[in-house]
Amino acid sequence: MSPTILTHPLIQHKLTMLRDIDTGVKIFREVVGEIAMLMCYEAMRDLSLEDVKVTTPVSIASSKALSGKKLALVPILRAGLGMVDGILSLVPSAKVAHIGLYRDPETLLPVEYYCKMPHDISERACFILDPMLATGGTAAAAAQYLKDAGARSIKLLTILSAPPGVEKMEQEHPDVEIITCAVDQCLNDHGYIVPGLGDAGDRIFGTK
Ligand code: URA
Repeated sequence: MSPTILTHPLIQHKLTMLRDIDTGVKIFREVVGEIAMLMCYEAMRDLSLEDVKVTTPVSIASSKALSGKKLALVPILRAGLGMVDGILSLVPSAKVAHIGLYRDPETLLPVEYYCKMPHDISERACFILDPMLATGGTAAAAAQYLKDAGARSIKLLTILSAPPGVEKMEQEHPDVEIITCAVDQCLNDHGYIVPGLGDAGDRIFGTK
């Protein structure tokens, strides 16, 4: 499935703020949260609705309410954490799972070091959260972990993507929709997205 690129002017403007080397930690963190909130709005476009009756101060209204699947947010540690609060402000009932993966320096394969899922993950629409889709190694491993845990509905919300990561996800998880704000040119020798925005985790948490 080719990625869904969110071209809304508000999102693109905020992405430019993230790219800017002069954007400091406070603003960077806030804007990551704002973009995540806007991305969630788009990602939830296909959730199903049911007809409900509601008593207004004036009369009875025929209206709509969300039905069916509830949401699980699955941030990949650590940068994915920066996207959680923005989405929770829109969907406070979402459960938050966590996936911690690091890349083994010898094998270069993702190794899981911490995972905690809600027990009813198979009944939830899962949004994997990671601001950067670079090689796609951790995103693909996270999607596989969720599938092994029983998840049947998975989307990947990533602020910036690079072609190798998109290709890996398309090959290994063609059923997982990638929702992103831009697909950049390439990766450099250190695995950073070019032109990108630098190390998202360092910029969110001020560790550089
Ligand atoms: N992770 C980041 O934080 N930045 C990149 O450019 C690539 C991966």
